This record gives sequence, C-alpha cells and structure tokens, in this order.
Amino acid sequence: MTQKESASESISRAAYKSAYIQINEVGPRDGLQIEKAMVDTDAKVALVDALSECGFARIEVTSFTSPKAIPALADAQEVMRRIRRKPGVIYTALVPNVRGLERALEVGTDELNLVMSSSETHNRANLRMTREQSLAELKSILRAAAEQGPLPCNVSLSTAFGCPFDGDVAPTQVLDLALRLAEAGATGFTLCDTTGMAYPTQVAELCQRMETVLPGLPVTIHLHNTRGMALANALAAWQVGVTRFDAAAGGLGGCPYAPGASGNVNTEELVHMFECMGVDTGVALAPLMDIVRGLPALVQRALPNPLLAAGTRLHTHPAPAWLAEKFPAAS
Ligand code: COA
Ligand code: ZN
Repeated sequence: MTQKESASESISRAAYKSAYIQINEVGPRDGLQIEKAMVDTDAKVALVDALSECGFARIEVTSFTSPKAIPALADAQEVMRRIRRKPGVIYTALVPNVRGLERALEVGTDELNLVMSSSETHNRANLRMTREQSLAELKSILRAAAEQGPLPCNVSLSTAFGCPFDGDVAPTQVLDLALRLAEAGATGFTLCDTTGMAYPTQVAELCQRMETVLPGLPVTIHLHNTRGMALANALAAWQVGVTRFDAAAGGLGGCPYAPGASGNVNTEELVHMFECMGVDTGVALAPLMDIVRGLPALVQRALPNPLLAAGTRLHTHPAPAWLAEKFPAAS
C-alpha cells in the first residue's frame, strides 16, 4: 500500500468513526429452513451458542412454523430451550400465526418476528393464507402478545421489492401493510428482498418512504444475494440511514416457497465491508470465520466463499523470492 492510499483510507474511515450498525444473524432460521440435510438439534444449539460469542445484536434462532411446512425446524422449541443465552444478545424467532406465538412463549423468546408477504401470491404459497387472513392473524398475535406484557413484535414483510410470482411490488403495497400493522402494535419492520429482486435505488427509496410514513419506527433490511446485488443494496440502505441488517453466516438461506430462492447476504461479507469503512458492526470477524469454515460439514454441501478464499482486505502475501535478487538492498 502506498502512503497516499493509506492517508486517504484513514480519512474515509475517520468520517464514520462513530457510525455503527446492528446485525441480526438469521443463519439458524433462514439458513437452515431450506437445507436438504437434516441438521440435528445438538448441532443447531452449538451453532447458536457459537454465534452468541461473535457480538451480534440479535440472533434469529428458529421459526415456530408448522413442522409440515418447515420440517427442518420442527425442533424449534427444544433449540430455543437449550441455547445458552448470552446477556445483551436478543434471541428472536419467526412466528406466522397464533399457534406459533404460543410455542414461542412457552420456551421464552425475547422478541418475535412476525411474517407475511407484501405480494398476494407469495403469501398464499408461503403461508397458505390470503394477505387479509395473514393480517388478521398477525393482529391477533399482536393483541395476545400485548397481554403478556412488553414483548417486542417486529414484522417481516416478505417480497417487499418484488415477488417471484407477481413481479414488481408497488411501494404503496408495502407501506399500506406497514401502516396497518403499526397501528395494531408492531414495534418495527423488516423489508425483505426474498428472492434478490431489489436494486440499490429501489432499496433507498422504499427505506426513505418507510421513514416518512412511520418516522422513528426501526427498519431492518433483509437481503438475498440471488442476483449479486445484496451488498450494494445494503450500502444503499445504510446511506439513507438504515442501521439494522439481517444476514446469514456463509450466505446460507432462502425461502422454500419462493422459486429460485438462494442465500442471504453473507454475514461475514457484510461485516467485512462495513468494518473496512470504519463502521462498527459489533461483530468479531475471526470467530465468525471459524463458524463459517464449519458450515459445509454442518449442511453437507460445498459453500463457495470468496472472503474465506481471499482472506480479509489487508491479507497480504510474501513477495516473490526472485525480487530480492533483482532489486538487492533497499533500493
Ligand atoms: N406451529 C406448529 N404447528 C402448527 C403451527 C405452528 N405455528 N401452525 C399450524 N400448525 C399445525 C396445525 O396444528 C396442523 O397440524 P395437524 O395437521 O397435525 O392438525 C397443521 O400444522 C396445519 O395447520 P393449519 O392451521 O391448517 O396450517 P396450514 O397448513 O394452513 O399452514 C402455516 C399455515 C402458516 C402454519 C404454514 O404455512 C407455515 O408454517 N408456513 C411457514 C412458511 C415459512 O416459514 N416460510 C419461510 C419463511 S418466510
Ligand atoms: Zn430470507
């Protein structure tokens, strides 16, 4: 690295000295829900426990969905019961209906992540309900959760940037659902790009419009890298003020009821990008990379990983030996 580059780097990093983001690690839920290999309960608990040591703000541990719909997470309650809760980490889980809420409450869940789709056809395919039925179900969950005392209930709005069945999704569709659910008590929203249809300017616009219609309500962005735009989309969201990101270690993930679905934005790539910029993610990359190295054995398939192959940005290599001969001494 030249002196000039080094100086400009410190200038750009200094600009974001006090900037930070929060990462919700969704690998144990979004990651494992689509895997063909059955990951046993012990291994899931060990994965969450290891992730707990990495510095995440939140970990989405599992989903309290129908075991017929998501067989891979049928052991949700046992996993939630057995994980070691690290103080300061929020343990959350996906909940699609009142039955899911009951199961989540039985085992103690810090925060709920309710779910419905922005588009009609994906909602029907994924949740076997119309959007109006899902809205009614989520309102029942929000009412029942409020009776339990303070229990944060975030809502994930799937297909917010496009639907693999219906195509483009109008921002007004998303905003209208968010408004109705906020009125019913939702404490935050996650805008989900379920099959990687989002592009950066679209992400920026929808995030800004969310802030306009629901000022101050936390917005999380949930990206899939299906078409290689996930990191660009994350940056676009951050540039308009979003500080909460879902991500999955190793880029695992995908919705089994969305054709063509593939992995979430890689947590390690997201951490690496923001840390390069001087933005604090709270996440320690080294223990996270250790976990990522173990993922192919866990899910019994190869997971190509450019960051693992190349090392972090300043991972340098020994100069070729012949250089010393051609350029002797310190010339
Ligand atoms: N937890 C456990 N079991 C549940 C459940 C829950 N949250 N909700 C329903 N069930 C059970 C019912 O008890 C019933 O069991 P039975 O057949 O033994 O009587 C069965 O599942 C069907 O129940 P029903 O209410 O008719 O649900 P459904 O078949 O219409 O499915 C959902 C609706 C929402 C439960 C289901 O589509 C689902 O879980 N989807 C989640 C999809 C998902 O997570 N996608 C990826 C993330 S975006
Ligand atoms: Zn997802």
